[in-house]
Amino acid sequence: MNILIIGGGGREHTFAWKLAQSPKCNQLFVAPGNAGTAQIATNLAIGVNDFVGLKSAVIENKIEMVVVGPEDPLVNGIHDFFLKDEALKKVMIIGPRKQAAQLEGSKEFAKEFMKSNNIPTAQYASFTAATLEEGITFLSQMKAPYVLKADGLAAGKGVLILNDLAEAQAQLKEMLVDEKFGAASKTVVIEEFLDGIELSCFVLTDGKNFVTFPMAKDYKRIGEGDTGLNTGGMGAISPVPFVTPEFEKKIHQRIILPTIAGFEKADLPFQGFVFIGLIKVGEDPFVIEYNVRMGDPETEVVLPLIKNDFVDLLSATAKGELNSQNIEIDERTATTVMLVSGGYPEAYAKGKEITGLNSGAAASILFHAGTQLEGNKVITSGGRVLAVTSLASNFKEGLKQSYATIEKISFEGMNYRKDLGFDL
Ligand code: AMP
Ligand code: GLY
Repeated sequence: MNILIIGGGGREHTFAWKLAQSPKCNQLFVAPGNAGTAQIATNLAIGVNDFVGLKSAVIENKIEMVVVGPEDPLVNGIHDFFLKDEALKKVMIIGPRKQAAQLEGSKEFAKEFMKSNNIPTAQYASFTAATLEEGITFLSQMKAPYVLKADGLAAGKGVLILNDLAEAQAQLKEMLVDEKFGAASKTVVIEEFLDGIELSCFVLTDGKNFVTFPMAKDYKRIGEGDTGLNTGGMGAISPVPFVTPEFEKKIHQRIILPTIAGFEKADLPFQGFVFIGLIKVGEDPFVIEYNVRMGDPETEVVLPLIKNDFVDLLSATAKGELNSQNIEIDERTATTVMLVSGGYPEAYAKGKEITGLNSGAAASILFHAGTQLEGNKVITSGGRVLAVTSLASNFKEGLKQSYATIEKISFEGMNYRKDLGFDL
């Protein structure tokens, strides 16, 4: 079948790499893609929210399956757009309907979902400009640190964790009254702070049946020792060494099962990936957030561990037949190190030539994120540029392989974290 992947980052290059391995994948397209996807698929210069442009491409290229990478088009209702269109309604879409995508699109919606399904998460209350005074009082009754979350999508920047009460109260006002994060902070969720170690759990579901992928740990901060600003993710490791069989059982029973059952109960149409951001507090898992897509760079470590034919897995998802699939997982550990542009996550330069891309191919897999072709050169086009993935018997060996590959790659201003796994 002909398949279209929507998105243009490392996650989408990994989807393309995995789908291209399937004998069932005929022509593969990526919109808009990057220099990495251009090597194995046809890039289409169409934005992820240009539904009309995507429709034309699907018809013209006889596409039978669309895999949606990022959350934006899902929250904007791409799945519903296809279902409502006579010419598109038979196309398989991997990604939830708009209503279910609210699990990522609205923190308040996600918290209510967890509460009504008894899924362990931080205590919370939500406020709007009309209830600002109550919010200020609520904060004064809580203990530091204070967790403030913009309800809507804010490009990963909508969560503030503050130690000072007066500052938290001032920020609450800025978010609600001055719309610090635009419309996304018209409602703010205030949460109890949970102290523990984070990990991510990935489930592929058809809304009723599901398969669980290996867990992953990502490194979000720019600086070594988890310091400095948050990024989209500086690297990841999968599986997660501290997840014992007992802990995994708790995640399964207390979180995954009630989440999937909750979709059915609340009539939330979900065919796609559920990314559950977890925190381990003592020996117990709590949900920090839901995402309705795969993580990036978690995909770059999770998919290389899955042995199944990915077209089979995704077709079964779209058809509601995931119960027919048994997931097969590689025994090894996957690690990925993200190479980023100097200055990221603040201002950074683009258009720098990347060299050494063909030298490390044997030891590592290079997934492109912010790259672009310029003639026959590959240049940087984003903050996160390349994810260098390696598979080995343990994460230390895997990282050693990735760091050795990175020695051969260079572009002006290249930066990466050299301490991944420091906390494991
Ligand atoms: P979110 O966008 O909800 O994932 O939040 C972004 C980050 O803020 C998370 O990855 C955590 O590191 C942190 N965080 C969010 N909520 C809490 C909480 N209740 N307690 C402690 N840390 C949190
Ligand atoms: N790596 C975190 C995310 O994809 O949201």
